[in-house]
Amino acid sequence: MKITVTRTAAPKVKPDYTKLGFGKYFTDHMFIMDYTEGQGWHDARIEPYHDLSLSPAAMVFHYAQEMFEGLKAYRTADGRTLLFRPQKNIERMNNTNRRLCIPQIDPDDALQAIVELVRTDIDWVPTEKGTSLYIRPFIIATDPFLGVHPSKTYKFIIILSPVGSYYAAGLNPVKICVEDEYVRAVKGGMGFAKTGGNYAASLIGQQKAEEMGYAQVLWLDGIEHKYIDEVGAMNVFFVIDGEVITPSLEGNILPGVTRASAIDYLKSAGYKVTERRISIDEVYAAADAGKLDEVFGTGTAAVISPVGELNWDGRVIVINNGEIGKISHLLYDEITGIQWGEKPDTFGWTLEV
Ligand code: COI
Repeated sequence: MKITVTRTAAPKVKPDYTKLGFGKYFTDHMFIMDYTEGQGWHDARIEPYHDLSLSPAAMVFHYAQEMFEGLKAYRTADGRTLLFRPQKNIERMNNTNRRLCIPQIDPDDALQAIVELVRTDIDWVPTEKGTSLYIRPFIIATDPFLGVHPSKTYKFIIILSPVGSYYAAGLNPVKICVEDEYVRAVKGGMGFAKTGGNYAASLIGQQKAEEMGYAQVLWLDGIEHKYIDEVGAMNVFFVIDGEVITPSLEGNILPGVTRASAIDYLKSAGYKVTERRISIDEVYAAADAGKLDEVFGTGTAAVISPVGELNWDGRVIVINNGEIGKISHLLYDEITGIQWGEKPDTFGWTLEV
């Protein structure tokens, strides 16, 4: 694919890499490619970062026909820049596209776009410990049309944001509130797809949790409000009596790349890992029996986030004395060790830019 590059004449001042937080700063360039029915994807270009101009009737504003992805580029101590399993994000992107009636993108073209944009803004990959360059590819439906129908035109855009930790608490355990009024997704819906609508549906629960002093929501299944789905910005794992359990992928939760990597790593390290339905009652019963060893979340933004407390309708359980558990710690060290090039990549997960 031919990508036209127009470099900015006015590079921005870089933020303080010790105070990045998440998703607040954007780099000098962005990638854009257009889709037109009958012509396919065309006009791949890297341009200075800029605002978009769209018709107020653009379909994305009305019926949310859009998707997004999230992955990161990491700077190693010896100055290399690594992507972590970008092919998995691209595969998921096309799965989301299928669900949202958005045209497929050639996986090689998508990877080339990511790599060339990161290369263009390579000096924006932060170097501080615990930081990375978050990559946000997304697609929006752009037809100016108010009928409920798939758009005939789209834009595929990639923006980059240097980030620190997603949670203000960093690696310290987060407090999570179990939501049993609202639901995020149901089987047959879009739960497995990375699309804004799922996150819009989650905002009210997230707001409720924050008002109660909790960082995130633990979503239960949309039918019985019984089985655990995922946390707002991450997949979730429970360690019960030494066994690592995570909800199976049945269409309503996001198939996380960090989730898959955590499973592969733990299995290779000899842990018993089970993907199955797990109910909130089972988690609380395990806690009552003193067998709930650890709870943690996995996500690109969240990395590995230990959970120190759960609140389900006023029933509060403190996990591992609110401290980081052994498996969470191991996973954090091993996964980020591979991402930052500190540990050998025996799985072949990284791709040098
Ligand atoms: C990610 O982990 O990349 C996400 O997209 C989660 C959240 C920031 C929406």
